[in-house]
This record gives sequence, C-alpha cells and structure tokens, in this order.
Amino acid sequence: MKIENNLKELPLTKSNPKTLESLFGNPDIQPMWVADMEFQIAKPIQDSLIQRISNSGFGYEYKPDSFFVAQKNWYRTNYGIELNKNHIVFSPSITTTISVLIENFTSESNGIITQPPVFMEFRDVIRNTKRRITKNPLVLVNNQYQIDFQDLEEKAKIENNKVLIICNPHNPVGRVWTKEELKQIVSICKANDLLLISDEIHKDIILFNNHFTSALSFINDYEKIVVCTSEAKTFNLCGISDSIAIIPNEDIKNAASSSFKKYNLGRTNALTRVALEAAYKHGQPWLNEVIKTIEKNINAIESELETSKIELIKPEGTYQVWLDFRKVYKDSKEMFNHLTENSGIALNAGHWFGREGALFMRMNIATSEEKVVAAIKKIIKAVPNNI
Ligand SMILES: Cc1ncc(COP(=O)(O)O)c(C=O)c1O
Repeated sequence: MKIENNLKELPLTKSNPKTLESLFGNPDIQPMWVADMEFQIAKPIQDSLIQRISNSGFGYEYKPDSFFVAQKNWYRTNYGIELNKNHIVFSPSITTTISVLIENFTSESNGIITQPPVFMEFRDVIRNTKRRITKNPLVLVNNQYQIDFQDLEEKAKIENNKVLIICNPHNPVGRVWTKEELKQIVSICKANDLLLISDEIHKDIILFNNHFTSALSFINDYEKIVVCTSEAKTFNLCGISDSIAIIPNEDIKNAASSSFKKYNLGRTNALTRVALEAAYKHGQPWLNEVIKTIEKNINAIESELETSKIELIKPEGTYQVWLDFRKVYKDSKEMFNHLTENSGIALNAGHWFGREGALFMRMNIATSEEKVVAAIKKIIKAVPNNI
C-alpha cells in the first residue's frame, strides 16, 4: 500500500494554506486534523475510476443492480445486516440527512440530545435548524469514555427533547459502543419516544479486536431508529462520495424521502457509484492493511507517550487519537496556541467538539508510522515541563 505524502499538491481542505493560516496562524503547518486519510486509495477503486473516466459519457446515471448486490454483500459480510433497498435513502452527506430528519420530526426550539465531546457538525446542524442542543456529556472513567445513562434518562424524560444523536464509533473519543450500551440507549429512546439517529460513518475502522454493533440490530425492539452512514471515510473517498440513511420504518422513510425529493437531493454521481461498487467488491484487503497501520500507529504513540505527561485515550475505532493534556496545561486556548506554535503540527482542539473536550486534542493518524512518530515527538517536545 502506498502512502501519499504530497497532499499539498491536492486542493484538500486539510492542507489549504488559507485555512491553515486562519485556524492555526501558519499556512505551512503539518495538517493532522481533518479526518481524511493520507493513503492512496485502493488500487481496484483507482482502476475502476480510470476505466469509467476513459468511457467518457457522463449523462445522468442510475445505480444498477450490481451496485446494490455489492453493497448488500458488504453489509451482510461485515455486519450481519440484511440491507433492504427499500429502506435506503441516498443523501449528499450525513449532515444533510440529519438536518432533514430534524426538520421533519421536530419543531423549532425542540431539544436534540447529543453526547459531547462529539463531532462538531451535530451542533452546527442543530443550531442551523433553530433547535436546542441538550447535552448528555460522556464521562471519562479510568481513561475510557462512558455514557452517563442516568443523565441520559433524565434528559430523555423532558418532553421538549425529541431526538438523540449518537456517534458510533464515537468521533473524537474513539469508543465503539457495546451491544449492552446500545441496548440501554435504545430502551431509553423507546421509553421516551425519542427518534434515535445513529451516525455510523466510522464503522469500518474497528481496532484491536473490538466489535461493532449497528443500532439497526435493535430495529425489532424499536422502530424509530435511523442509521446514517457512508463508506467515504473508510476508503478515503470523501471528495467524491455520498452517504446513505437506512430507515426501516416506512413512515419515517417516506417523510425523509419527500424532503429529499423536495430539494432534489437524491441524484447519483457516476464516480461515486463506480468507486463504491469497487470498494465493496475488492476493497477489503486494502482496508485490512489500513487497520493494521492505524493499530501500529496507536501502539507507537502509546510507547512514545510512556514517559510523557500527555495521556492517550486509546481508541477502539476510527483513525483518530484523543490526547489528554490536562496534566500539562490549565487553559484550553492557551494550550492550543502554545502547542500549535511550538510543535508545528495542526491538531483539532478538543474544545471544538464542545467545552467537554477542553484540554484535549484530536490527532488524525491515517498516515505512515514514520510521520506519526515524528509528529508525536514534536508534540512531546513542545509541551512545557515535560518529564
Ligand atoms: C461522525 C461524523 N459524521 C459525519 C461526518 C461527515 O460526513 P458527511 O461529509 O457525509 O456529512 C464526519 C466527518 O468527519 C464524522 O466524523
């Protein structure tokens, strides 16, 4: 597997000098923030894209049966999920789907429960749709994040709260929720008639023998579940890919579909279709290599941090690590400025994921071990009074 190290030659958001200047004060800083990989895409995906481009008609396309067969096999083989084509709604992005669902199933000023620190676009979507954010913060117990179920139950009971958005695997803290945890989540949603939206975009990167369970496993217990997912992140295809919502409940599906139709959001893209079909059919060996590389990178970080005051929250999934700087800094903004300036590495500040992430940083490690080790060494060297 080749590692792409010349990202500056591509117009990627993560390495856009203007973005780097405005967020990090340095257009040349090394970008290890946005969750995009630096790996070359899998060869079979590249080959199928080249072949498709050389067959250069780009009229309106539909997804042929071969696409659905390949997609169905992927979900069956990897997750034991029997996808039903009638339950799938195609969407340009997961955040679009979440907006549509919120607008359909809640009213302005209704509460939407999230579990910070969490992917910041949940907050943006809730604010943009003029709903209220209700927080059920995760709690850190013995270096592992857990759900505060008592608090979740209290928030769920409040009549104004209508939706719970979970992130599984959880970005940024890397938890892969267990079957038991999901069961409790579903039972709280059911008892309080909450719509459960499960964002499972990171489902394919499961590390160290952890096991992923989709919220769909509970659909026979509770029907108000929507899974938003995509293989875009898995295969480094965010620039061309789209996403799906899996909505087994017919009423919810019809309501969501009519909003997608209203804004004509379901159109497919020729390259997405080709890339994903190839990924489903031939992408697994590449993905296995990626997972091995991510695990090696995490182990390398763990050993580099052994004598440091920086703590690693070891991820169970995703290609991000969540670093705890609470023994090093007292103020989040001061941490961000000091570390950014002195390490030359651009990381996501933890407080971007909600104030619950203050004094943590998220580091994207989907690159070579060499680069990861060099970066973590720079970070260790940059922090004050390191032992
Ligand atoms: C949890 C999570 N959901 C959704 C997205 C973005 O998905 P989309 O581009 O389809 O909105 C990301 C991107 O990092 C993510 O981490």
